[in-house]
Amino acid sequence: MNKENIKILVVDDEEGILDVTECFFERKGYQVYTAGNGEMALDIVNREKIDCIFTDINMPVMDGLELAEQIRHIDSTLPVVVMTGYPSLENTIQTLKNGVVDYLIKPVKLEQMELTLRRVLRERELFVENLILKEEVERRERLHQLNNDLVKKVEEVNTLNRVMEDFAALNSSYEIFNKVVRLSVEELKADLAFFHVYSQQDSTLILVDKAGAENKKHPAAYSIDIPEQEKAFIIESLGNDHTPCLIKDAVGIPSMKGQVNSFMVAPLKIRDKIFGIVSAYIFQEPRFFGEQDIYYLSFITQKAASSIEHIALYENIYENLFSTLFAFVSALEVRDLYTRKHSTRVARLAQLIAEEMGCSEEELDMINVAGSLHDIGKIGIRDDILLKPGRLTEDEYEKIKEHPAIGADIISTLGLWDRESQIIRHHHERFDGMGYPDGLKGKQIPTLARILSVADCYDAMASDRAYRKKMDKEVVLDIIIKNSGTQFDPDVVDVFLQVADQDLPDDF
Ligand SMILES: [Fe+2]
Repeated sequence: MNKENIKILVVDDEEGILDVTECFFERKGYQVYTAGNGEMALDIVNREKIDCIFTDINMPVMDGLELAEQIRHIDSTLPVVVMTGYPSLENTIQTLKNGVVDYLIKPVKLEQMELTLRRVLRERELFVENLILKEEVERRERLHQLNNDLVKKVEEVNTLNRVMEDFAALNSSYEIFNKVVRLSVEELKADLAFFHVYSQQDSTLILVDKAGAENKKHPAAYSIDIPEQEKAFIIESLGNDHTPCLIKDAVGIPSMKGQVNSFMVAPLKIRDKIFGIVSAYIFQEPRFFGEQDIYYLSFITQKAASSIEHIALYENIYENLFSTLFAFVSALEVRDLYTRKHSTRVARLAQLIAEEMGCSEEELDMINVAGSLHDIGKIGIRDDILLKPGRLTEDEYEKIKEHPAIGADIISTLGLWDRESQIIRHHHERFDGMGYPDGLKGKQIPTLARILSVADCYDAMASDRAYRKKMDKEVVLDIIIKNSGTQFDPDVVDVFLQVADQDLPDDF
């Protein structure tokens, strides 16, 4: 810093001292400001960028110590040097307390003042540099920490999302058990993980699945199942509150000593009851599970528990609904001696054709539901029309034709079988577009509906009806062949003929 850029302020109530000091420092090339009292001094400090202040202690209005104190509030780095005639210990302590950096004893030698000035300016420079440096370091540390926190958070959210997606795609409890142990190994880097079902009755653990990291040597005791002694310890660890638990070392548990470095257990609870227990292990390695791992494990088990509950609930609702609806269909068929078991046979034949055509498991399930319930819409048709032994009038026939749409409506309002309801709606469409209710043509008709149509017509002709005896199998097959390409999809008819060629079940 050049001298001409350095601004010093001298505060004294003795004008003579101010003049001499001003003259001396100006000659040396400094910019000098003078003030006769504290208030004037504060005014200058607020206006100018002062680098150092020399002040007398005993002054009217405001003494030097109070001035130093006020300046500290304005700028804590601005050095204040006090000049006093009567240095006492008490005075000295007070000056330092008020943030004064140095004091000079009157009468003050001007050269000494300049030396002090240079020293305090150098100290201030260092102090400010340090402060900036410190702030910079702190800022960097804070940024680094923030960045780390953010990366961790993102990783955490990704892991949780992955876990959620993984569970959403599962359809059975066994898949869920397997997913739990695999996630423990893949996400939590466990060397080995077990899933045991917990038997409430006798407080035992029954192994249902396990997973281990490849290329990790598992102690012999863990190669089949965890030792019995340890199972008791696991149940005990969960305690009365059944909360997940993390054990960093296994000291004190004889079966684990020297084999397990770190392990954790989490219960899988359904409606507050322990259904199963997951345990995850790290073997002889300088590595431990941390708080984050137990958090993930408990998230995984909670997710698994709700998936299992959801599947059980869904299966239950599904089964219940299906049996209720099927009971309706059976009740309908029972009223008409001739259509008894028609839907069951149609469902079975449609499944056989679908299987031969290479349909997936899911489609086979769909055609079973749709086939079993395809005539459920007949619930909405009056008995005198439905059970009429003779020929139907045109109006009556129109009424009968409403049954696919009524059936599809009943099924689709349940929200569970949208695709099945479409198959039901279109089971009376014709390949040439002359069918009902929508007059769909060719491949516009859902494949499974085209299959169902063949199965339905075959069974209707091959069984006794109120108005005629059943026809011979050959005659029926002939009729179906003749209508291939018009009423029926020729591809379905080809496959159907292969199925019919083999021995059809007794019912057919
Ligand atoms: Fe029908």
